[in-house]
Amino acid sequence: MAPAPVSTVRGMTRPVPEAGGRREFTGTEYENTPVSHHSSNLAQAATPLAAHAGQLVVHAPPAAQPPWWRKAVIYQIYPRSWADGNGDGIGDLPGITARLPYLRDLGVDAIWLSPFYVSPQADAGYDVADYRDVDPIFGTLADADTLLSTAHDLGLKVIVDLVANHSSDEHPWFQAALAAGPGSPERERYVFRDGRGPYGALPPNNWLCAFGGAAWTRVESDKDKSGTDGQWYLHLFATKQPDFNWENPQVRAEFEDVLRFWLDRGVDGFRVDAADGLIKQAGLPDWDEPLHLLGDAAGVLHDHHGKQAPMWDQDGVHEIYRAWRQILNSYNPIDAAGHSRDNDRILCAEACVNSQERAARYVRDDEMHQAFNFRFMQTQWRADDLRDAVTNSFTAADSVGAPTTWVLSNHDGVRHASRFGLPVGTKCPNGIGVGDPQPDAALGLRRARAATALMLALPGSSYLYQGEELGLPDSTDMPDDARQDPTWARRGHTERGRDGCRVPMPWEGDRPSYGFGPSDRTWLPQPASYAALAVDRQAGAPGTTLELYRALLAARREHGLGTGSLSWLGGFPEEVLAFANEPAAGERVLVITNLGAEPVPVPGGAQILVSSGPLTPQGLVPTDTTVWLSA
Ligand code: GLC
Repeated sequence: MAPAPVSTVRGMTRPVPEAGGRREFTGTEYENTPVSHHSSNLAQAATPLAAHAGQLVVHAPPAAQPPWWRKAVIYQIYPRSWADGNGDGIGDLPGITARLPYLRDLGVDAIWLSPFYVSPQADAGYDVADYRDVDPIFGTLADADTLLSTAHDLGLKVIVDLVANHSSDEHPWFQAALAAGPGSPERERYVFRDGRGPYGALPPNNWLCAFGGAAWTRVESDKDKSGTDGQWYLHLFATKQPDFNWENPQVRAEFEDVLRFWLDRGVDGFRVDAADGLIKQAGLPDWDEPLHLLGDAAGVLHDHHGKQAPMWDQDGVHEIYRAWRQILNSYNPIDAAGHSRDNDRILCAEACVNSQERAARYVRDDEMHQAFNFRFMQTQWRADDLRDAVTNSFTAADSVGAPTTWVLSNHDGVRHASRFGLPVGTKCPNGIGVGDPQPDAALGLRRARAATALMLALPGSSYLYQGEELGLPDSTDMPDDARQDPTWARRGHTERGRDGCRVPMPWEGDRPSYGFGPSDRTWLPQPASYAALAVDRQAGAPGTTLELYRALLAARREHGLGTGSLSWLGGFPEEVLAFANEPAAGERVLVITNLGAEPVPVPGGAQILVSSGPLTPQGLVPTDTTVWLSA
């Protein structure tokens, strides 16, 4: 999609207040960023292209015309926080529908909507009480239908969230299980157990909940009702999110029906929440390793000393996904005459597993289409780490013939514009608040722009998280009493949790709620810095992060990079990532990301397609900058 016409740099010259006395980021430093033009001064200090021979090919382009999901850029919308249609301070489906043309103009292929189903909102909608209806705070089923048809008319696919590991405790099945008591078929649909020790007063095992505290809650009412000691129920997440028992055929049948319900309404796929959690090891044995869902400071996923956690990534989950794949295939039979693979309905796994190789098991030919690449998301801003993560991702995905995916931010972690502003080598905290070490906002944004430019040049499918196209940082000075993520309370106010990345979007810098909705209400407070980053301040303004994303997405599409190849180029310093992406039918693009202290020249004769930031006056690629080149 063509970028909007260049106008003035409205607002971007205003200083953004930052905590901790850091450098101020004004936005003006990007005004001279070359975007889609051919630079004439690159000859200086250039090395001949031949000096970068010795390519290491790590990924070959696919032979056939690939279906949409192998190359799509998918934009995650967190419905509470994208656009508020009715002014109640919480985003909703009509708000989203009204803003969809923005995404067409941005140049993405699809959207993924976090849950909008009926929910008490104990975990911001990841606690579902009715899988077949829309929560009134988000609208109605008719609103969902309108969103779908509007998106499709704009050429956007729509992926919805499927929360299958657990329901809300207010789901009718769980209420029925509580009412029916121990030993009943109703309890068999969840994971109820008697406690250990005298009077069953201890939880059935030592498992911990992902948000802190025990993974078991006792049913106190059992005692009054039946005179028995109260049973316990399992919840790998919050107390109000009881885990389903996926060994129970009724649970399987129910979810297959839920899939059909949304497929019949026209959705293009599902992002499967906590996909590695559905099956638990028989006997529910104790687990003494730390729970860490994500990896260590170096971005390395946990191997738990070679042990397999009994609640995650059990082999039994795969037969569930094979059954689901059959259902999705039936909506788009691959042998039907005139069938277009551009109609494929897809599954994407959220599986925080121990290695890329384990993740690849979710995307074998007869299972899901995609799995999130959490290894890449956790990688530190170090050339070797990034190179390893990229190579390892291709090796694992190619071993099963699946596309790689890439992601830098989502609704569960500190946004990459803030994460990359923390010292390299430190593990990113789960949320940043008042009194915590604050990220260097200017450094973080510079690296975030370079990281995104690197990511969008990689073959495969990329996920963007709402607002990253504006360079939004996390809200890092949110008052703690405004926090809503259950993590904050469950961890005894030691971990702030995920609210900082969930703050409502700024659309218009001069309006109340920065144009999030028609009122000044927002369910989480917006930081003052969001005014200068609002969509209307960036659209059409040269060098802004929004215009950078538009240029990257347009060039990615034009050059077919999503289905290209990847070869590392030799002849660059260690601290520089340099690769060629050569699409099967198209011209190759060279990509250089400089993580070193010294500026680096681009190969002689190369022409700049897009750059994440300004080059030096000599035409060199400075530190923390990515360039795309045609050569
Ligand atoms: C996934 C979601 C997260 C949610 C959890 C429980 O990790 O991304 O937001 O809290 O599952 O459903």
